[in-house]
Amino acid sequence: MNIHSGTIEVTDEPEALGTEPIPARYYYDPEWYELERKAVWMRSWLNIGHVCELPEAGSFVRREIEFANASLLIVRGKDGEIRALHNACTHRGTQLTSEPCGKKSTFSCPYHMWTFGTDGALLSAPDFERFYVEKDDCALRQVAVDVCGGLIFICFEPQQSLREYLGPMTDMLEQVAVGQATTYHEYVYEIDANWKLTYDNFQENYHLRFIHPRSAQSGIGGDNPFGYPSSFSLVGKHRTQTIWTNPDGDFTPSTLLAFTRAVPRLTQDGLMELPHARDYMALFPNFFMLCNPGNNFLHYVMPISAEKSRGVIRLYWKGEDETASVRYAREFGMATTRDIHSEDVNVIEAGQRGLSSGALEHIHFMEKEVLCRHLIKVVEETVEAYKEETGI
Ligand code: FES
Ligand SMILES: [Fe+2]
Repeated sequence: MNIHSGTIEVTDEPEALGTEPIPARYYYDPEWYELERKAVWMRSWLNIGHVCELPEAGSFVRREIEFANASLLIVRGKDGEIRALHNACTHRGTQLTSEPCGKKSTFSCPYHMWTFGTDGALLSAPDFERFYVEKDDCALRQVAVDVCGGLIFICFEPQQSLREYLGPMTDMLEQVAVGQATTYHEYVYEIDANWKLTYDNFQENYHLRFIHPRSAQSGIGGDNPFGYPSSFSLVGKHRTQTIWTNPDGDFTPSTLLAFTRAVPRLTQDGLMELPHARDYMALFPNFFMLCNPGNNFLHYVMPISAEKSRGVIRLYWKGEDETASVRYAREFGMATTRDIHSEDVNVIEAGQRGLSSGALEHIHFMEKEVLCRHLIKVVEETVEAYKEETGI
């Protein structure tokens, strides 16, 4: 299949992106990171939350975005609109709140009590008549925000709308059950590794049999000893793959119970036959989601510096834990996720130490690591286009 879409064609041919080795400096060089920061991070739409976190007017979450040196308040206003407000008082910059989330009817600055509405407007300021500025010019600064499939995205310097940015992935995201989620479990980690090295670990299955010999039982074995995906597709900046499941997988009774409780009526209704039920969806630059219908596993990786990142893993659910079995199933899902992830962390950091030593000029991706190669190709293209545009 070859359909033109954006800068790179939609393709399922592994060698469409070439076969050459990749410069190792992309994973530690601060100059390259600075180019990525400006070209990729400041201009990309990034998932930072879900509408279920903002159920009511005044609900807010705070997000620290290190690559932009920004603290953002994602707020549902009295008018129902979601906005991304800079957590920086327009008087002299003081951060309005250090609370990670909550509900407020106004945001008051602790320094001189300037008070802002949930839409960012300056509502009141003590002795304001003595200032040389109008209240209308003192609203909190905003960052672009939009929602697709229930997921909240922000962009510091948008070059296009969220839907244009997502392209063909828009429909896919809207079809996936994550839009109906009402709650989630979250696991946040910091890691001493470049964001691409961290993210790539979750784009390839080559390591499963060595790093997860016990926990990845359902994903390796039989005539697919490495658990490679059944198919993949490169879709402009984004990509998908279809997860392969071992039909003879060695499920323990507790795993089976967890799966059947977490995905109710799985067998009766054939939920796994729903669109995208076996798909892995990756949105450039840092997001992927497993689209299974009972819960949506989502993971994104934010850079903190060239050699440090933060990952956010979430399992989204619909409805509350109405029974002990569902509660068990959800806890089991999260515990399994943490188990598998803890097996990955050490090997990713070991990779970073080797790369940061400067010993290597290049690294290598094989045929089945094409999603990793695609990420690098899109980053390279985006940086090149930025350099051309700005004359850097
Ligand atoms: S810095 Fe916020 S009111 Fe003065
Ligand atoms: Fe892994």
